[in-house]
Amino acid sequence: MEQQTGHACSSNIFLIGFMGSGKSSISDYLRDHYAMEKIEMDQRIVQKEGMSISEIFDTHGEEYFRNLETQLLVELQQKQNMVVSCGGGTPMRETNVRQMKKNGKVVWLTASPETIYERVKDSHDRPLLEGNKNTDFIAKLMSRRRPKYEAAADFTIQTDGKSCAKICEELMQKLVEWEKQS
Ligand code: S3P
Repeated sequence: MEQQTGHACSSNIFLIGFMGSGKSSISDYLRDHYAMEKIEMDQRIVQKEGMSISEIFDTHGEEYFRNLETQLLVELQQKQNMVVSCGGGTPMRETNVRQMKKNGKVVWLTASPETIYERVKDSHDRPLLEGNKNTDFIAKLMSRRRPKYEAAADFTIQTDGKSCAKICEELMQKLVEWEKQS
């Protein structure tokens, strides 16, 4: 059992960012140390469909998966005290961003393509990266997506070279400042 280090915050938190930006690890940390309920979108979708993400992409295509993401965000509307680890592509749809903003704060975790590569290189459940695991591909997809992440984010935390504890400390500080201002 992890020791709780902070109080639950009053907003739900939606963690967005590229694959491998640390959304799952940070949401684990917030669950364990700030007593928040953790929702891992990919995991929920896998459970619901009874297939891995790769199988969903192969069997039904990406659009089907994207519709499941949108549907899940709607289903989460009533919840409180939760941290949601979004899929890397979730904020690409404006309707998803609207759902997130209606229901919490959107935090963008960033990392360099080199850091991302190191974090994803051994995993095989990211269909968009299969056969594309190199910093060039990552950098290109990242810059195509950047405007959407930027537009969605209430604030941003850079994660390269930082521990989960440090990232969460920054995140909570920014959240408190943000709440004071609004
Ligand atoms: C995707 C990111 C993945 C998963 C799917 C598509 C994306 O989630 O939702 O493979 O489009 O960036 P993670 O960001 O948790 O790897």
